[in-house]
Order: sequence, then structure tokens, then C-alpha cells
Amino acid sequence: MTFRHLATILGVACLSVIHCSYGQSVIQSKKISPELFGLFFEDINYSADGGLYAELVQNRSFEYSPTDRKEWNSFSYWEYITPGFSYGSLDVETTSPVHPNNPHYVVLDIHHVGREKEFTGVAGVGIQNLGFDGIVVREGEKYNLSFFAHQLSDNAITLITSLQTPKGEILAEEKISTSSKAWRRYTATLQSTGNTDSAKLVVLAITKGKLALDVISLFPAKTFKNRSNGLRPDMAQALADMNPRFIRFPGGCLVHGDGLENMYRWKSTIGPIEQRVEQKNIWGYHQTLGLGYFEYFQFCEDIGAKPVPILPAAVSCQNSGGTWRVGGTGQKSLPMSEMKEYIQEVLDLIEWANGPVNSTWGAKRAEAGHPAPFNLEYIGIGNEDKITPEFEARFRMIYEAVKAKYPAVTLIGTSGPFSDGEDFERGWEFATELNVPMVDEHYYKDPKWMMSNLNRYDAYDRSRAKVYLGEYASWGNKLQNAIAEAAYMVGLERNGDVVSMASYAPLFAKKDRTQWKTDMIFFDNTSLVLTPNYHVQRMFSVNQGDTYFSGTITMNVADSTLTASCIQDSKTGDIILKLVNVGNEAKVMKINLGGFKKIVPAAEQEVLTGIADAENTFDHPESIVPVRSGFKASKAFEYNTQPMSLTVIRIKTR
Ligand code: AHR
Repeated sequence: MTFRHLATILGVACLSVIHCSYGQSVIQSKKISPELFGLFFEDINYSADGGLYAELVQNRSFEYSPTDRKEWNSFSYWEYITPGFSYGSLDVETTSPVHPNNPHYVVLDIHHVGREKEFTGVAGVGIQNLGFDGIVVREGEKYNLSFFAHQLSDNAITLITSLQTPKGEILAEEKISTSSKAWRRYTATLQSTGNTDSAKLVVLAITKGKLALDVISLFPAKTFKNRSNGLRPDMAQALADMNPRFIRFPGGCLVHGDGLENMYRWKSTIGPIEQRVEQKNIWGYHQTLGLGYFEYFQFCEDIGAKPVPILPAAVSCQNSGGTWRVGGTGQKSLPMSEMKEYIQEVLDLIEWANGPVNSTWGAKRAEAGHPAPFNLEYIGIGNEDKITPEFEARFRMIYEAVKAKYPAVTLIGTSGPFSDGEDFERGWEFATELNVPMVDEHYYKDPKWMMSNLNRYDAYDRSRAKVYLGEYASWGNKLQNAIAEAAYMVGLERNGDVVSMASYAPLFAKKDRTQWKTDMIFFDNTSLVLTPNYHVQRMFSVNQGDTYFSGTITMNVADSTLTASCIQDSKTGDIILKLVNVGNEAKVMKINLGGFKKIVPAAEQEVLTGIADAENTFDHPESIVPVRSGFKASKAFEYNTQPMSLTVIRIKTR
């Protein structure tokens, strides 16, 4: 292999330490963010309810409504049943709910329990739930059922709860009798004797009388880390496997919401599930908020990621009220008279996360089962808001209050929805005026843009705020999209002294329930499709470091299809090389690790490569997967990068 134009990889802004020199290239190092790559989670594409949140009953609290979706009502996804020629009536009522935050419930009046029906063996009056596109049950597995009942007649009412196939075959069954004329929570464990992806949950009253029912919930006993009110294990594990340094939640546009009433208010999402304030999801469905702030924080802790909650800046999404197509003029702001209370809500979150158990909000965290603080370090205020005078006034008030009371918390500002333009410019200018420590940037681009902007952050002013690239992706889930993102991420690492955090978006998308077409992980009720983009994100995320070295990798700099980075993780001492070739020919890069005292020859490599247009699908989920193998490292070697590839080489130095 001959190199006509061998040259040192791009010079790096602000390198502070001359490490050593080897041959012609000068090796320099600089500290970079040790928490550069993390995750963005938003309840879009049914990511939470019907997705990561393991609840199997859809519309468990009868709170669906036409404001969520015009064809929905309190009884959507439920059916009224009267097997065995039984009869009675069903009503949805609101007069005496389990909790005022959860106003709707059903009342069953059982007038007559008929003959036993041949195929189920049980007659009665009841309801059945069809789940989120069916309920998946597996033979031998246990399912935790719970519900609230309020006996409205003098006599106790016997209920048969069961899991049934679509044809009515019983897979699990438990009998429960009411014992209270007040609302009371009942539980049962249903163990399935068979398998189906489309079970229904049946709650059938088999004695005459009247009762109210609400918050009918069914969880698999096996959730991620067996948490109650927990997460779907395969989905949560796919995230844990990425070893993300942080998780941003709960969005995205979901944060600032469709109008002021729809802003995501963290206090409505904690405490017992029957007390949470359910609401419409800006993406056209419903949020139970069963996956709320406690669950987000706990999940972060479970997988060793820092929580990055984003709170509304007291303004709603500029696209509120269906203004998406007309350029977004729907931003509404909380009246100034409500700002004191709103600011307190933001401060209370920090007390809830970090305060001692004898503080008002710390006590609520302890009550939920977590007396130890969650160690919240970051809070984002605003999500790609239009930078209007109303936004600025409110952001400033929140920022100053947080800074005064909690100076150790890093507050993240926002710079609009695009990589440039009016909101971007003004967002940065405003953040600089206020000395905001970090600014959230968002952009979705095509791979061509990514490849022409690999150096975007090289010239960023290091005296201004750090960057949190909170949402980015190239439009597509083909290998070529993922490899363009890899090339871009090399640029983020190279600029890891100014780019502190980055998260691909969106994360999850449910099959046939997708509002945003380019996503990291597709799923249905039983399987996941890890896109090539996921594999790239994981390969970067599990291979993070805290020191960046320039001058260690040389290549033909005139060749715009090549880029690479070299970092070290000081905890393990490992050197990590990321080599990206977006072209359609194999190309050599020269590696020079002469500056490191020791290189252990037994190294590892992981390579993601294939046809540019290839993607993973439900039928072929593994068309594109990385391949791992051993690799013999030395202080100086040449590496032949494959066409359209990302290669990560991990080399031990101890
Ligand atoms: O990631 C999908 C959406 O893109 C987010 O909700 C929003 O912040 C952005 O416009």
C-alpha cells in the first residue's frame, strides 16, 4: 500500500499537553468529557406506554378520552362481556373516584348470572382488555394483577379474573371476592399454562350485585431487575448493554407539550400510580405516566447512567395547537403570576432527587422506596423552544433561582430545533449573556450534511457554554446512515473538550405505531430490531474515555471518506481507536502508539460493515451486526479499514 498524501489527522483545537512525538507526527492529548455518549428517551412512537413500561393493560384507568384521539373514550380497548346469557349494565362514572387525579372508573351492575357457557365454563358480567395490540403471555410465567374495587351493593361480589386466548381458552384464572364498601386494592398472581401473543385479560363478576372497578393493571412478574411498576426486560437490557453515561428524559416535545395544560409536570408523575395525573401525549396518544420520574431515576441508577431530566421553561411547544405545518406560532407562556410557584416546582425536583429524607421532597423519595439521594447533577430547562421574549424572561427567572439555591447543579439551556438560524443564534447569544454552563442543540440531517460538517465543533468558542447535542440523527436506518453518524461522532470525540454530552434521537419506535420514522430501536410486543444506528451508538458508548490523542492515526487527509479517533480511558488504561470508512473501497490507516509506555498485544476489535443500503428489519433483524474478534496490537501498525465500516479497536496498556 502506498500513501501519496500521508498526513497527520486533523489538528485539534485547544490541545493542552504535548505527550510525545513519534516519527513525523506529534502526539498531543487533551481531556475530554468522560460522559460524552448517553441516551435520549421520549414517549414518542409508543416508547413508554405499550413499550418500555411493562404494563400490559391498555387504558387501565379508563382515562383515555377524545382529547387524546378523537375516536377514543374512557372505555377504549375494553369490551363489555356477558357470557352464558347473563345480563346487567356497564357505566363509566366520575362521582366518587379512587383519587381525584384519576376521575373515571367503571360500574358493573350484575342483574343476572346466566348458565355456564360451554367454552369458558363461566357465566357472568364483566369486562375484558385487549392490551396494546394483544397481551403476550408465556407458559409457566407469572403475571401480577391488581385492581381497585368498590363494592356498591351490600353483598360481596365474586370475580373471576383470567387470561384467555382470543378464542376464550383459559390460560390462567384466579377468584377474588370483594370485601369492602370503600375503594380497596386487590391483587392476584396469574400463572399461564400456555403461550399466546394475543391474550386478553378478563374480569368477570359471577354473583349478582354492583361494584366499581378502576386501575386494572397487569405486569409480568419478570420486569427489568424485577422492579415493581417496572420495565420490559428486553428493551431495558438493550439500553443497559450500551452502558450509557446518562439518560435524558422525558423528551423531546413531550416536555413542553401541546399547550400549557399539556406541559410535562414532574410532580404529577410520582407516587402511587392511581394518583398520577394522566394526560394526552403530544404525539397523538395517551400518557399514563406510570413510567414517571421515580421510575426514570431508578432506571438510570440501575444501569449506572446519570439522570438528565428536562423541564419545560414555562412555555409550551411552539407547534402547539397543530401549528406544525404553518411554522409553529403556538408557543404559550405561563402567566408571570404563576412563575413563583413554577420556579418552586423546579427547585423541589432537586430537593426530591438530592435532599435528605427529612426534607419535604426528600421524604417523598424515601417513601417511594429510595432514601438515598439520586445525585442529580444536570437539569435541562426547555426543549428546543422558540427563543421569544416570553421564553427568555421565564428561562432567566428559573435559571437564576436554580443557580442561587443549587450552584452545583449544571443547568442546560436550549437553542431551538435546528443546527443554525434565528433560534439557534439567539439561543446561544442568550445563553452566553446569562453564562449558562451548557446548551442543548438539536438537528436531524441527511448523511451528506453530516459528512460535510465533521468539523462543526472544531472552531467552537471554548470560552462559551459546553454543548449538549441532545438530539441528532441522519435521516435513515440504513448502514450508510449509521456510518455517517459514526464519522460525525468521531468529530464529537475530537471535540469532547467542548461537546460534553450527545444523544441520538429518538430511541424507540413500536411497529405500526410510529410517528417519527428514523429511530434507534424498533420493537413489537415480542421482539426488537436493533438498527445499524444502534450498533454504532453502542460501539461508541461502551468505548468511552476521558483523554483524546491527536497524531496517533494517519491517513490520506485529502480523502474525505476517512476519519478516526484515538482516546484513552484512564480507569482501565485502555486505548480505544475508532476508525471510520464511509467510502466504497478498503483504505489503510497507520496507527502510531509509540508514545504509550506499554501496549498489550492481545487486543480486541469490533467491526460493523456491509452493504451501504442494508438495514435490519423484523424479518431480518441481523442483516447488519458488528463482528468481534481478537487483534494483535503493537506500537505501530497499519490497519486496512473495510468499505462502509466502523472499526473499534480496544488495546490494553496494563
Ligand atoms: O426526537 C423527536 C422530536 O424531534 C423531539 O420530540 C423534538 O424535540 C424534536 O423536534
